[in-house]
Amino acid sequence: MKKSPQWQLQRSEVTPESVFQQRRNIIKALGLSAIGASVPMGVQAGLSDWFGKSAPATAPRQPLSFSQTLRYGITDPLTPEDKILTHNNFYEFGTAKTDPSENAQGLITDPWQLSIEGEVENPKVWSVANILDSFPLEERIYRLRCVEAWSMVVPWLGIPLARLIEQAKPNSKAKYVAFETLYDPEQMPGQRSRFTGGGINYPYVEGLRLDEAMNDLTLISLGLYGKTLAPQNGAPIRLVVPWKYGFKSIKSIVKIRLVEKMPPTTWTQLADHEYGFFANVNPAVSHPRWSQATERRIGSGGLLSAKRIPTEPFNGYGDQVASLYQGMDLRQWY
Ligand code: MTE
Repeated sequence: MKKSPQWQLQRSEVTPESVFQQRRNIIKALGLSAIGASVPMGVQAGLSDWFGKSAPATAPRQPLSFSQTLRYGITDPLTPEDKILTHNNFYEFGTAKTDPSENAQGLITDPWQLSIEGEVENPKVWSVANILDSFPLEERIYRLRCVEAWSMVVPWLGIPLARLIEQAKPNSKAKYVAFETLYDPEQMPGQRSRFTGGGINYPYVEGLRLDEAMNDLTLISLGLYGKTLAPQNGAPIRLVVPWKYGFKSIKSIVKIRLVEKMPPTTWTQLADHEYGFFANVNPAVSHPRWSQATERRIGSGGLLSAKRIPTEPFNGYGDQVASLYQGMDLRQWY
């Protein structure tokens, strides 16, 4: 556990003890430790009050067509759409699982621009419409395994990130790819202070090695369940890296930068002894505060009745990606 930051409030200042205790018991009963457990639990518990409880319906989503469905051997049943839309991590909108669906509906996703820049010959600014016009969408049915030890199976719609990177023509210095979420505290209440945003220094940033980014599994997603993304899932455009813990799959991206050196990432900046740059799903390497050997698969019954199943190395995608890490000690490079 990280040392309590200076902004830590006494939990009694944040939320009544009974509410705090109830919430803590539920989290304990589920065997869950929130990814932001370095954020004091009382602060987490108080956030839904802080943000207010409006719970509007999900913003309208447009239907999208796609050319093919790829499953990469995953035959697990899909997680119901309503669970994918209401159990989220998107700290820009609060740290409780229901905060994003309650607080993100006003996010303006059109117009939206995504730039690809840095060590490339052909930097480019894409609109979402340009991307949809330029590449055929595919449906990819992927497991999503959160570092908090819950998981889902999601029918994403998107294009391989490699298609966008190829167009930008990386130069010989490009070794890594850095990603950045929109920074807009007006729209994203979690970004207004470290207290409301889980201690993160915004904008949320992530990174991949170039060969990881070019792997066919790495998806730029623009939709799920046949429609455009909901704000809480990272509309209008996000990354999906199915063999890595979910925190690598950065939402609502505005910038992709090809760089020479390993870029800083949000969770390694927050607690590098707990969250590594590679973050490959690995049942053999425990998080310092919990085991990663099993996961709760979210199905129709929600988290309380979610079945506990064994976690697979690389989240079941070893055939596609294990070769990327040949010769690397994955305990050291967690
Ligand atoms: N991206 C941003 N910008 N902010 C976040 O808080 N949370 C990550 C990831 N991407 C996060 C983010 C985490 S921890 C997970 S598990 C996934 O988004 C969750 O994606 P989902 O809510 O669509 O299931």
